[in-house]
Amino acid sequence: MNKKELAAALSPDTDPAPFFALADKVRRERVGDAVHLRGLIEFSNHCRRNCFYCGIRRGNAGVRRFRLDAERILDCARTAAALKYGSVVMQSGEDLSWGTAELAGVVERIKVETGLAVTLSVGERSREDYRALRAAGADRFLLRFETSDRRLFAMLKPDSDYDERFRCLAWLKEAGFQVGSGVMTGLPGQSLESMADDILIFKELELDMVGIGPFIPSPGTPLAGAPAATLESALRMVALTRIVTGNAHMPATSAMGAIDPNGRQKALRCGANVLMPNVSPVEHRADYSLYPGKICVSEAPERCGACVDAMLESLGRVRAEGPGHSLKAAA
Ligand code: 5AD
Ligand code: FES
Repeated sequence: MNKKELAAALSPDTDPAPFFALADKVRRERVGDAVHLRGLIEFSNHCRRNCFYCGIRRGNAGVRRFRLDAERILDCARTAAALKYGSVVMQSGEDLSWGTAELAGVVERIKVETGLAVTLSVGERSREDYRALRAAGADRFLLRFETSDRRLFAMLKPDSDYDERFRCLAWLKEAGFQVGSGVMTGLPGQSLESMADDILIFKELELDMVGIGPFIPSPGTPLAGAPAATLESALRMVALTRIVTGNAHMPATSAMGAIDPNGRQKALRCGANVLMPNVSPVEHRADYSLYPGKICVSEAPERCGACVDAMLESLGRVRAEGPGHSLKAAA
């Protein structure tokens, strides 16, 4: 599909049903019925950035800040292993108090102790830092570019640089990571054309993973009063991204679950093939609020494990075995 066709398919005036059906077919043929479970570890909500949409932005004084130490992170990884998840995702704000050497040490310990695949989602660092983290054994890295619209990016991420963001993605690939990126839908001022570009860029970057979620206005941020995205805007992006990228791993994201109790199920039926159940300590979950209405804030990890199994069962899908590495190299 070209840019014009994608923009038309993204329009609320176009019936999405045919795209959803095609995306589900492509998903079945290219990645199968197995759903990968990645245990999410939210290990620090300290952040040096001030992104307009994000609840844990530096300027939000209402946030109770926390930082898990290495032992606590290890515990979360052990929980993920006990629940038979294939990998863990270590996610945090851009917290430079977690130095790259210390982070590398934790990655090494998780790999040795649990054998799980490790994904990092810790934001922008230097080329050398990325190399060191990869050398420590981290398998994957998630860094969403959030929007391909330069003007919108500059407005929403006042202390980030658009070109630097894409340089980071190139460095990650060069360092040998399986690379994930993604965007939010329904951002204030976001055009259908720029969303079509988002998808074409996913393809051009040959991403191993693509995460897409609806924008949800967060209290204590400059966008607190902005309208929320529709779930459908995110589902359209998921479906079209599946059709265009073929075999990228794509999560049914928590933000989808936050704006619709069946949001994740719907995403799994129009292209998504990954779930990221939370394995973080329950006592800090509510403090890691990028947006309001976060799901699973008080569910123990075991509860989420049982919940996702029930969800898969109801959809006629199965749990994937193993770490769920990228399908790109094999393809
Ligand atoms: N609504 C939806 N998603 C958000 N994110 C951050 N803030 C919000 C929000 N208010 C997403 C960003 C980020 C990911 C971890 O969470 O896309 O990359
Ligand atoms: Fe946490 Fe459903 S995934 S309760």
